[in-house]
Amino acid sequence: MRDSYGREIDYMRISVTDRCNLRCRYCMPDGVEWIPMEEILTFEEIARLCRVAVKLGITKYKITGGEPLVRRGCPALVRMIREIPGVEQVTMTSNGILLERYLGELLGAGLTDINVSLDTTDRGKYQEITGFDELPRVLRSIRVASEAGLRIKINAVLQTGLNEDAWDGLLSFAREGLADVRFIELMPIGRGADGHMVSNERLFHKIEEHYGPLTADGVSHGNGPAVYYRIADWPRSVGFISAIHGKFCGQCNRLRLGSTGRLKPCLCYEDSLDVRGALRDGSDAEVCEILKKAILGKPRMHCFENTGAVTERQEMAKIGG
Ligand code: GTP
Ligand code: 5AD
Ligand code: SF4
Repeated sequence: MRDSYGREIDYMRISVTDRCNLRCRYCMPDGVEWIPMEEILTFEEIARLCRVAVKLGITKYKITGGEPLVRRGCPALVRMIREIPGVEQVTMTSNGILLERYLGELLGAGLTDINVSLDTTDRGKYQEITGFDELPRVLRSIRVASEAGLRIKINAVLQTGLNEDAWDGLLSFAREGLADVRFIELMPIGRGADGHMVSNERLFHKIEEHYGPLTADGVSHGNGPAVYYRIADWPRSVGFISAIHGKFCGQCNRLRLGSTGRLKPCLCYEDSLDVRGALRDGSDAEVCEILKKAILGKPRMHCFENTGAVTERQEMAKIGG
């Protein structure tokens, strides 16, 4: 279905939990309170929403969290959505810690792609950023999953004064053919507003100075806002998600479903519609009306460049990115 600016909305991000096994400061600070389980949508409720959404043309789904793999049975949800007639793709964004453990189940359920959030390849720095010494486990997961045929993209958020030099180490995944590597400009959501963004334009030039020209890839490696480039004969791509400097809202294709059943038209604003009530007590027609309202309620664009106008107050971990 098209929104009021003519954009085709065919993708939904589904946050299945607000919990996470890491504490990246910009995403999930210490001391947050967990949402009680009875407020969280069941897998059956999520699958029902997807069955209705497919009829509106939403055929691609991204499972997010918190960390989606800490929710028990997550691969079963992937399978439930994948098996809905009309669904084209189910992908996931994860921190990778539990990926090796669930790899077989995820592949069996029909997962084809995973984005692994990783902001450094330095073990000490990883612990400083995330609060945990889990880098070896994440690196092993990436290697094993890549060998098993899962398509992997690395998501890296760089911040000045913290990990601005991590780009070179991260690029080794693209050079070695394990994964595409994407750099995301820090957005002023939750604690992200306290961080110091590294501009992708500057990073682009630094990478070119070091490795020679970045040439446009011409191929998109997902359904999101990343723009992809190649370096000489490297087997995988380098992507840029320029959330602040490259407004990609004109191509926006998505809705977000929060873990408690709130449909969010745009990342930047607090506005959301409750669909849990209709999923628990209403008809498919009511669910469909709420979906349509959320699509038609999408704003033209975000306003991250004007931090004062951002109305979203939740932490990114609760939204799912
Ligand atoms: P694929 O390319 O299909 O893998 O999806 P994706 O890049 O949208 O998914 P991912 O979960 O890896 O998100 C990467 C980054 O893009 C995260 O920092 C998200 O917060 C950000 N992002 C995703 N969707 C949007 C969006 O609609 N608007 C903005 N501003 N940022 C987004
Ligand atoms: N700005 C940009 N990206 C963010 N992420 C978390 N918080 C922010 C932020 N404030 C990223 C994570 C993860 C993805 C889902 O969102 O690093 O890769
Ligand atoms: Fe967890 Fe990902 Fe947020 Fe880090 S960035 S706290 S891994 S949800």
